[in-house]
Amino acid sequence: PKHFTIAIDGPAASGKGTLARRLAQFYGYHHLDTGLTYRAVAKTLLDQGMPLDDEFLAEKAARSIDLSTLDRTVLSAHDVGEAASKVAIMPAVRRALVSAQQGFALLSPGAVLDGRDIGTVVCPDAPVKLYITASPEARAKRRHDEIKASGKDVNYQDVLDDLTRRDARDMGRTDSPLKPAADAHLLDTTEMDIETAFLNAKTLIDQAL
Ligand code: C5P
Repeated sequence: PKHFTIAIDGPAASGKGTLARRLAQFYGYHHLDTGLTYRAVAKTLLDQGMPLDDEFLAEKAARSIDLSTLDRTVLSAHDVGEAASKVAIMPAVRRALVSAQQGFALLSPGAVLDGRDIGTVVCPDAPVKLYITASPEARAKRRHDEIKASGKDVNYQDVLDDLTRRDARDMGRTDSPLKPAADAHLLDTTEMDIETAFLNAKTLIDQAL
């Protein structure tokens, strides 16, 4: 086909980001981690000392996000992720970001988008939709190892509690809650390394190409 879209959703630390990057690299497609767009809105508000629940201010911030300058290292901080899940419950914020993400999805020759609502809302017509999960404990262990590797000291139980709280907020919100699209392929990576997840995804994509 002339153009192809791969939609990847799943909870925090499920491995969806790593998988999305690998697939984009392999197929030569553009990649957008849509979590970074929510993080960028949250960071703008935090930096300016603005409240996280003012829909008017947050929408203004969302409209000014530039997809080409999203910086993972700046946005990866833990408090930014937590704040992102708060701004992400506001419909006006979601509308603004979804519309920018849909523009990105049209890039040629194809695009891989990962997030929470890609298969359900952003790219409902994507020919391949993947929903990546792993047990909360496996995800907390990965996140814990990551943070430790970066030289910081954290408690596993705190990481698990944070993830559980963020899952609840993402799955429980009214607008675009995290859930698999009806036609999504479920991939549980609890006992799976990234290479195996990649090969599974590749098989599904090659069937659809
Ligand atoms: O994936 P990441 O942890 O960077 O996402 C941060 C937060 O942004 C998520 O917890 C979620 O609340 C929100 N988000 C969203 N929809 C997306 C991507 C992220 O609501 N498509």
